[in-house]
Amino acid sequence: MYDNKVESSEKNIDSVRKWVFDAEIANRFTDEAEKHIPDYWRVIELTINILKDNVAQDGYIIDVGCASGNTLLYLYKQGFKNLFGIDYSQEMLKVAGKNLSEVDKDFPSRLFQSKTFIQNMNFDAVLCNWTLHFIQARQEYLKAIFDSLVSNGLFILTEKTLQSQITENQYILFKQKKGLSNEEIERKKQQLEGVLNPLSVTQNLELLTKTGFSQIEIINARLGFVTFLCIKS
Ligand SMILES: C[S@@+](CC[C@H](N)C(=O)[O-])C[C@H]1O[C@@H](n2cnc3c(N)ncnc32)[C@H](O)[C@@H]1O
Repeated sequence: MYDNKVESSEKNIDSVRKWVFDAEIANRFTDEAEKHIPDYWRVIELTINILKDNVAQDGYIIDVGCASGNTLLYLYKQGFKNLFGIDYSQEMLKVAGKNLSEVDKDFPSRLFQSKTFIQNMNFDAVLCNWTLHFIQARQEYLKAIFDSLVSNGLFILTEKTLQSQITENQYILFKQKKGLSNEEIERKKQQLEGVLNPLSVTQNLELLTKTGFSQIEIINARLGFVTFLCIKS
């Protein structure tokens, strides 16, 4: 059962620094992701399987919020070569560049540091797993992604969505089972307030429809973390 001692530990945290993807996080990113993101590797595997089935190996793929490069590395190992990454954190890109240059020394030149989406490039697939919820101008960003996709191009989006108290309690239990203390759980929650801004599932669907995607499906969902497959027809 969910252990509600989390509430009492709240009192012990006076003020917390807001969440940033700095060097400290970048250097232990995979561990952080595995402990805080339900189905982290399952969603990456699902993403890779969908791309393997539907995108040619010379297809153009970009990972938005590529972080330490886990998905790009996996894609590279599956034979995809026209891979690009974008992230606004220099520290995350430094780690991604290091990891990816081990398989392709030119990879860092295909990693872009930017807060806005890339201009003047077309993609067969755009990935945006656990990143859009950090972006303020979501509609503009989505529009730029949509415009960059070729006809029948794929967009895979994973977002943390609004959780009811029932779901949040189960999410806390998930983190406790990963070995996180109640103080760590509460601290991260406070750090993310106003930084990670979740929408409801319905709001996400409305936003994707408004952007122009006509085919939208939910392909994974766990404890409020939802993956959408969108096709540009
Ligand atoms: C939870 S991580 C994404 C994980 C990654 N997609 C993976 O599969 O491992 C979120 C990433 O989004 C990046 N980010 C936040 N705001 C951004 C923005 N406006 N543009 C691009 N990247 C952004 C962060 O630096 C961070 O690397």
